[in-house]
Amino acid sequence: MSDLIRLIDTHAHLALSQFADDREAAITRASAVGVARMVEIGYDLPTSRAAVALAEAHPHIFAVVGVQANHLAELPATWLAEVQALAAHPKVVAIGEIGLDYHWMKAPPAEQEQVFRAQLGLARTLGLPVVIHSRDAQSDTIRILNDAARGQPGVMHSFSGNWAFAQACLEVGFLLSLSGPLTFPKAAELHEVARLAPLAMLLTETDSPYLTPHPHRGQRNEPAYVRLVATQIAALRGLPLAEVAAAVWANAERVFPRLRG
Ligand code: NI
Repeated sequence: MSDLIRLIDTHAHLALSQFADDREAAITRASAVGVARMVEIGYDLPTSRAAVALAEAHPHIFAVVGVQANHLAELPATWLAEVQALAAHPKVVAIGEIGLDYHWMKAPPAEQEQVFRAQLGLARTLGLPVVIHSRDAQSDTIRILNDAARGQPGVMHSFSGNWAFAQACLEVGFLLSLSGPLTFPKAAELHEVARLAPLAMLLTETDSPYLTPHPHRGQRNEPAYVRLVATQIAALRGLPLAEVAAAVWANAERVFPRLRG
């Protein structure tokens, strides 16, 4: 019975304006297909505050707070203290999303690295895992994680890259969170990663409203579609969806202990 399958979307941005008209309906649609937990992710101070507010309003929604590399322009001097204060909330399960973005390159790499390292340090101090954003910055991401986050629990959000990069992330000890692009028929490198990685190191996410999976590509993404990602992992590995869903659920609770309440 499919209603016994509990799915988790470990990375959504429901606070964004793309959900202004139907946020609650999207949450309900997700529940209806078995998405029993969701993690709402901040990428700057306003979205981090919004993530905490959404988590307060919904028992099954949790929050991640942090500042991502594309949002460094108007950071107040007190930003790190503000992230720390938000992280004290019991429904904040991790620090993130944090990391490097050399695709948009909205801040110089040295500044991105400084903000990234500051939050890796904060997470270590607080005993919280981290959720990593890495775009067109694979080697610097691995260099910094090896240097500053070895042994720390963490997740590569919306993993993209080949098996070699996946192995480097796994060697740091980080889980690989798979998203919509895994469902694209031509995503051969991602398919290989989903087949070869230990099932105990995989998570599922949507990154809603972005990265919409097949067959909804071109439309807004929403957490209900995480089922398509989990189904694709199951198909690639030749496993029942229920087995993949149960593993991912356990993996999420292992890396994000505050999910268990
Ligand atoms: Ni995101």
